[in-house]
Amino acid sequence: MTTTEVTPLPAGTRAALANSSMVVLGTSGHAREVAWIAEQAGRPLLGCLGPHRPAEAARLPATWLGDDEWLDTAHPTVQFVIGVGDGEARARIDFLASRNGRRAGSLVSPAATVGARCELGDGSVLWPGAILTTDVRLGRHVHVGTGATVSHDAEIGDFATLLPGSRVAGSSRVGQGATIAAGATVVNNISIGAGAMVGAGAVVVHDVPENVVVVGVPARILRPHHRETH
Ligand SMILES: CC(C)(COP(=O)(O)OP(=O)(O)OC[C@H]1O[C@@H](n2cnc3c(N)ncnc32)[C@H](O)[C@@H]1OP(=O)(O)O)[C@@H](O)C(=O)NCCC(=O)NCCS
Repeated sequence: MTTTEVTPLPAGTRAALANSSMVVLGTSGHAREVAWIAEQAGRPLLGCLGPHRPAEAARLPATWLGDDEWLDTAHPTVQFVIGVGDGEARARIDFLASRNGRRAGSLVSPAATVGARCELGDGSVLWPGAILTTDVRLGRHVHVGTGATVSHDAEIGDFATLLPGSRVAGSSRVGQGATIAAGATVVNNISIGAGAMVGAGAVVVHDVPENVVVVGVPARILRPHHRETH
């Protein structure tokens, strides 16, 4: 489905759509990918929510419905998924979107693989080529990017982000809101602290403290990781 809808839908149309199941919060490229995964997964999508940016809205593979407040009046059964790449931003959005008991839905690309006894927290999104092997646990709103892999018994905390081609090996733990950047590898039995950023292409062979950026092979601390505040 492609649309160039860039103005809020009239109230009557909104009511007619109320039984559809899911909206994407966000309008950026990340949100566009999440909407595309919903489409690929055959998941009915009401549309996307976010600030009125016509150029972004015109490129969405789903209707732009309005800003985030649209969700406040949506039918209680409408679920949300967050199309924002930054984990801390996802945490803030989740707090607001779920405060009235609204459920977050998960999306798994049909080109992703989920093995035995894997658990996906609400709001998790798996991109094409993502692989969870076996006994993997994902927290809330974890995003597993294109071709990223998570091996046996690994635990990925709430709002963590695994960018394309990253690898988390067996029994490792990724803390809440941490990011494993493109092509990085976390070897087995490693702990990545909450809010940490593992730089692109890094190979992590020692535990990483909270809120630092590590880079290189083997990965070493580059600087503190100051989180964005919006
Ligand atoms: C790790 C990262 C966050 C650091 O960003 P930053 O703090 O702005 O770092 P800078 O670009 O200022 O670089 C600082 C130093 O670290 C080095 N560096 C930065 N990223 C590096 C990386 N991934 N691996 C090795 N060295 C790296 C730079 O070469 C520079 O070294 P120098 O001072 O000797 O020249 C960033 O480089 C990164 O890897 N981001 C992930 C991007 C990604 O995966 N995007 C995918 C989107 S789908």
